[in-house]
Amino acid sequence: MNDVFLRACRKMEVPYTPVWYMRQAGRYQPEYRTIREKYSFFDISRHPEICARVTRLPVEQLGVDAAILFADIMTPLKARGLDVRIVEGTGPVLAHPVSQAADMAKLAELVPDRDVPYVMESIALLNRQLDVPLIGFAGAPFTLASYLIEGGPSKNYHKTKGFMFSRPDDWKALMLDLSEMTIRYLTAQIKAGAQSVQVFDSWVGAVGAEDYRKSIAPFMKKIFAELKKTGAVSIYFAAGAGHLLEEWNKLPVDVLSIDWRTPFSSVRSRGITKAVQGNLDPSLLLAPLPLLKERAKQLIDQTGGDPGFIFNLGHGLFPEVRPESLKALTDFVHQYSKTLKKQV
Ligand code: CP3
Repeated sequence: MNDVFLRACRKMEVPYTPVWYMRQAGRYQPEYRTIREKYSFFDISRHPEICARVTRLPVEQLGVDAAILFADIMTPLKARGLDVRIVEGTGPVLAHPVSQAADMAKLAELVPDRDVPYVMESIALLNRQLDVPLIGFAGAPFTLASYLIEGGPSKNYHKTKGFMFSRPDDWKALMLDLSEMTIRYLTAQIKAGAQSVQVFDSWVGAVGAEDYRKSIAPFMKKIFAELKKTGAVSIYFAAGAGHLLEEWNKLPVDVLSIDWRTPFSSVRSRGITKAVQGNLDPSLLLAPLPLLKERAKQLIDQTGGDPGFIFNLGHGLFPEVRPESLKALTDFVHQYSKTLKKQV
């Protein structure tokens, strides 16, 4: 078992910098597109053999140090009975957006073994097949709430934040419901065999630090405290949320995932002590190979052999990326960081 990724999450010495990519399974892969011609997005998750195959594709093709379960942040909400569709080029869209906490209270709470047995089966299957750790995942309450309230993707999250500011009791009830669901879902994933879990709070960067502390952090604290009891490694990700790092550092989470707007060199000087994951700008994958490698080199140099560093992108891969560039980047990070570690 290659445990370099888990060691780095725990800030232990590693022989080289581990690498994995957010959205490493997806439409940039010809094999994925072929599978999608036959199966809808949610159909893939519901067939453990196919789900495991899609999850393994990037591990086999790129040589990354971790696999991430193929699913979506909306998977548990769909399983609870919400009418969610994944619209190509847009993302999740709801037939009936949530306008009050009572809309959610109508739904039964998530019982993972009953409602998403296929997720647990896929994890168990992957556990037997993989020689790298498996990352389970879920959406964070704010990011899930944004899809529920806006009814789909949003640019400014006015409706979501308007809800948060004008109806604090309803907001609390909604966040409590989603936190409880996230804890149940992730605990079940860990029990099924995921050695680590990432909580995607992709859009929480839209909130200022003061409001985050007041209206969101208490729920995140509860989620990570529950996950800590399992012994699995936890990772917290958002895009454009550098202003929240000090708040995040207080949470009982192991790894903070940052994007390219926050330079790695500033993280330690700001007193952030946790392991850090990130943060290459994914658009660089469209740049000529020498520039891509140069920028990866600069990032690794900035980390200066810090053992608590996991190489990733600042946000997910996208369909226009060439698999060859990604393979070259993965090989480069492994090789270059190995030579640096030898010098230390
Ligand atoms: O990382 C992986 O390889 C695991 C799979 C994964 C998917 N979604 C598969 C997917 C993960 C971890 C997610 C999480 C997710 N889903 C997030 C958090 C990560 C982030 O990027 O911020 C968010 C915000 C969503 C919501 C969502 N689902 C979006 C924005 C999209 C893309 C819409 C589009 O067409 O560009 C989806 C659909 C989706 N989820 C696809 C994949 C591979 C593509 C749709 C398809 O195959 O038809």
